[in-house]
Amino acid sequence: MLGIKYFPQKLNVDGKKIIVRVDLNVPLKDKKIQDPTRILQVLPFLQDLIKRKSKIILISHLGRPKGVRNSNLSLLPIYKYLKEKLNTNMYFYTGEINNEIKTKCSYLKESEVLLIENIRFFKEEIENDENFSKKLGELGEIYINDAFSCSHRKQSSICNITKFVKEIYAGPLLKKEIIAINLVVKNKKDPVTCIIGGSKVSSKINVISNLMKIASNIIIVGAMANNFLAYKKYEIGKSLKEENSEDVVERILREAEVNKCKVLIPEDFLVSKSFEGESISRDIESVKKDEIILDIGPKTVKIIEEIIDNSNTVMWNGPAGYFENKNFALGTNAIAQKVSENTKNKSLTSVLGGGDTVSAINKCSPDLSFTHLSTAGGAFLEYLEGKDLPGLSVLK
Ligand code: 3PG
Ligand code: MG
Repeated sequence: MLGIKYFPQKLNVDGKKIIVRVDLNVPLKDKKIQDPTRILQVLPFLQDLIKRKSKIILISHLGRPKGVRNSNLSLLPIYKYLKEKLNTNMYFYTGEINNEIKTKCSYLKESEVLLIENIRFFKEEIENDENFSKKLGELGEIYINDAFSCSHRKQSSICNITKFVKEIYAGPLLKKEIIAINLVVKNKKDPVTCIIGGSKVSSKINVISNLMKIASNIIIVGAMANNFLAYKKYEIGKSLKEENSEDVVERILREAEVNKCKVLIPEDFLVSKSFEGESISRDIESVKKDEIILDIGPKTVKIIEEIIDNSNTVMWNGPAGYFENKNFALGTNAIAQKVSENTKNKSLTSVLGGGDTVSAINKCSPDLSFTHLSTAGGAFLEYLEGKDLPGLSVLK
């Protein structure tokens, strides 16, 4: 996105109160952090600001508490984790957004950090409320949005807050995300191949539509592909399929022709009678009525690998199969290996992201290399759709 004001690296931040909106929305189980990736990503910038003696006020959400306090969605475990990593005086503020916090912020010393409890405990945050945004904005002299993954939300700490702080910038992590995604949509090396998985085709129709203008190939995998198979009258047994997806599929196939973009759907599968079962190989004609398609098969893997070999850019969103059961992680694994190998050896540009993609890849095949692995879900997809994200528009 052009015209965004990025944080000038040499800006004098000594003694300045800086509000930083980060995305600390990490998966928790019994209040334990399951994957700290998002926290680790914001560390270098925070450490830099600390070293340069600024006073940091951190804002983040966790989950979707809808304006109600919920102890399961407290940022406390994340505060503890972050405090250890940052190794400076760090405070956790659990009160209201009023004069009390304003006073606390004014007492912050150089290199100290204050984290505000889950900002979505306040309904005003979700409503992008003016008055609430003003109170947040008055806490600091500089505002930095370093949460690309939240920038599709029209909420106080992302949008309206920017009206009430003199200096506003996009942070380095946000910048990194935009540069990377632009490697697919703007500064691309042709041919571009987009691999789209996941389940709901209707939620991704606009992304696919936009990508067809850019890409030479769209490869449909995951449960999404079932809609295409059913449309073409193949038996898909008990596989997941979206109701009334025919129009959406038809539109995609029609637009593909107009854009001269090839749409590839799987030609063989791994199926089972249950999600927990063993895998059986089937070709496109032989899926039985009581079977569920849970992964792409070896023939399809080969075809996808060849397309990847002939591409200079790959964008990948959504796992190829039900990777939670290792019997159905074949497709996701194979694609990840191939994309990583070509990124290393053939300077393929690879950008991965959205929803489950990163966790699927971390689970199936950690330690692979990609040009960029985005931790953004919805924001990643909306940016690929070509939408103006509200949180980015306000940074111009
Ligand atoms: C995400 O997990 O994608 C971001 O943290 C945004 O969360 P949201 O979808 O609840 O706004
Ligand atoms: Mg999400």
